[in-house]
Amino acid sequence: MPCGATICGVGSYVPERILTNADLEQMVDTSDEWIVSHTGIRERRIAADNQASSDLAIMAAQRALQDAAVRPEDLNLVIVNTLTPDMSFPATACLVEDAIGATNAGAFDMSSGCTGFIYALATGANFIRIQDYEYVLVISAETLTRITNWTDRSTCVLFGDGAGAAVLKPCREGEGLLSYALESYGEHGDLLMLPGGGSRLRLTPELIAQHKDCLEMEGPEIFKLAVRGIPAVAKTALDKAGVSAAQVTAVVMHQANKRILDAAGQRLGIPTERIVCTIDKYGNTSASSVPLALDDIYRRGQLHPGDIVLFVGFGAGFTLGAAVFRWTLEPFSNTTSAPAH
Ligand code: UT7
Repeated sequence: MPCGATICGVGSYVPERILTNADLEQMVDTSDEWIVSHTGIRERRIAADNQASSDLAIMAAQRALQDAAVRPEDLNLVIVNTLTPDMSFPATACLVEDAIGATNAGAFDMSSGCTGFIYALATGANFIRIQDYEYVLVISAETLTRITNWTDRSTCVLFGDGAGAAVLKPCREGEGLLSYALESYGEHGDLLMLPGGGSRLRLTPELIAQHKDCLEMEGPEIFKLAVRGIPAVAKTALDKAGVSAAQVTAVVMHQANKRILDAAGQRLGIPTERIVCTIDKYGNTSASSVPLALDDIYRRGQLHPGDIVLFVGFGAGFTLGAAVFRWTLEPFSNTTSAPAH
């Protein structure tokens, strides 16, 4: 019997430490004015020395499970999509599965760059649709500041740490996930990469001195790809769902740059007030930015059953993805609780 998959709980977590633009002015040749006018970022969160991506993921996961009123032992699957796993293996998802007590769940990691949460949502939903799974926990957790070159002003002002999670469960067809579109353009892989530390380039002290253990990005090239690609992938998903841009209640997009959010909104013909923006307080948290933004509006009570939510991601790979949901969760009731930490 075919069925749909929907989000029945949302949670997120950001570390306590805040790094402001003023702090960065003391570290590299930059200014609050440049960062705000070029990106919209005002501050970002930095994981504590003893916090790895799994620690952030565990917090987000527990909050999502609590919101869904689902016990960890009832989960069938834990998926973590991250660019910054605790280590190459074991999978961060297995570390989370153990820590939260998801004793009956399988677990695996995915790596889809900043599009990660969209890829993970689509994957998790298919396990529910095809495998009759009851509950799937989907998480994105990133500690990008661990792979940041703090001497490179063109990247170090952009990134932050955080995690977000959603619990998926079966629902009636026509509710929850209506459609998705996933794309990748491997020919642009060199525009955003972590060159060292994998099987291609083993790290040596010389390579570390050259920051080959840190993220490298051709920002302006990615900017152009994103602004062109986002409306196209979003339209593909909207058309598949049979939904028009005018029907979209909220766009939950990867938070890389406020100018990208604005340009994409304009090209899609969706008013700015429907484009969720959290970049000012969290910066670019890669795959975590979409669930952090989702949790932000959800906990503000801004999502209602029947709303059409358009998720859009873009990033390392180069990957692009969009997903259209007919929202089914009642508005979060405890609006006084802090959204993410
Ligand atoms: O999340 C994954 C996907 N990533 C993205 O989507 C990132 C997309 N790209 C971007 O968001 C933007 O391209 C950036 C924010 C990365 C850069 O903004 P931009 O407006 O494209 O700046 P730019 O790289 O073209 O640099 C303009 C100028 C340069 O100086 P000159 O050559 O004009 O004299 C840079 O050296 O700004 C300079 N600059 C800075 N100045 C002060 C670059 N970084 C900084 C800085 N502070 N932090």
